[in-house]
Amino acid sequence: MAARALVLLGCGWIARRHAGAARRLGIPLLTASRDAGRARAFAREFGAAAAFGSYEEATRDRRAAGAIVCTPHNRHLPDALMALEAGLHVLVEKPIAPTLAEADRMIGAADAAGRILMVAENVHFMPAFRHVQRLIAGGRLGEVRELHLVARGYRRQGGWRLDAGACGGGVLIDGGIHHVHNLRRWGGEPRRVFALVPPRTVALGGEDAVDLLAELPGGVVGFVANSLGARGLPRVQWSTVTGTDGTCFADNRGRWVLLRGGRGTRLSLFFRDTRGHVAMLSAFDEAMRIGKTPETDGADGRRDLAVVLAAYRSIAERRPVDIPC
Ligand SMILES: NC(=O)c1ccc[n+]([C@@H]2O[C@H](COP(=O)([O-])OP(=O)(O)OC[C@H]3O[C@@H](n4cnc5c(N)ncnc54)[C@H](OP(=O)(O)O)[C@@H]3O)[C@@H](O)[C@H]2O)c1
Repeated sequence: MAARALVLLGCGWIARRHAGAARRLGIPLLTASRDAGRARAFAREFGAAAAFGSYEEATRDRRAAGAIVCTPHNRHLPDALMALEAGLHVLVEKPIAPTLAEADRMIGAADAAGRILMVAENVHFMPAFRHVQRLIAGGRLGEVRELHLVARGYRRQGGWRLDAGACGGGVLIDGGIHHVHNLRRWGGEPRRVFALVPPRTVALGGEDAVDLLAELPGGVVGFVANSLGARGLPRVQWSTVTGTDGTCFADNRGRWVLLRGGRGTRLSLFFRDTRGHVAMLSAFDEAMRIGKTPETDGADGRRDLAVVLAAYRSIAERRPVDIPC
């Protein structure tokens, strides 16, 4: 039988989401941690086939077909390269890497190895956000004019996120990149960005809050507000897309989408796989099996990263920054 197992590289927070999705899909798992005890505990909890105290040993296991890179941002490239060298396909957590040069090396290595490289951008697979995409593509909003993507709250971070070198930035390259992805997907590729950061409220390796204004194709305007330093805000927040015929509001947790406009009001509710992890892993599994290029391939992840890094340049240089097409 062909190898089908997925190796989890790193047994931290996001690894739990992938492990849960693999269990739902019946995809065999191998867990790998720098700490063998943690790998074993993870394997017990999620019914994995085996546990390893070494990432390298796990990638060399004959049952493995792919690896899911669940490590800090500055570990994505070395861990992805290790998996590719072992002949595995790679699902790498977002951001693809902290720099475009690292993203290019990863994309080049996957191409050279003839292996799938997919970025684990789960928002792309969230049913509510896919619904927004269908509303836009189906002309239900008319011509898109403005996108306001707001995700602001308060959370203290620890560990590698306090180290700018490990993270490659702050809130925008971490959680904010999800909203950058939706901005691109719903509004088109940003041509120019201008970003500002307020003084920091919570400890983080980079910025704890950012406001990003983007010029999109056709003069459409996009705005992303992302913060971990904003106390007192409700957990329910939404992303808004306004067109000439109406506006849709998508709950950031993926539970509902409200459409309002000339043709009345319509509420759509979503109950299953609201965070898109099962659909995402299923897409990776399919891509591995039939050699299909995934929707969130390395090039797509690189484009998300390019917008984030242009915003960082804008912040540093205090001016709008063009993004090459
Ligand atoms: N899609 C999403 O919604 C989402 C949400 C959160 C995070 N993420 C992404 O997932 C990745 C991991 O984030 P996380 O929140 O899961 O972080 P985390 O809980 O800190 O887990 C990261 C894991 O990486 C491993 N690791 C390897 N080298 C390390 C080092 N030098 N320092 C610290 N840990 C190291 C550790 O696993 P072992 O000790 O077991 O080896 C650690 O548990 C990041 O790329 C992040 O952006 C995505």
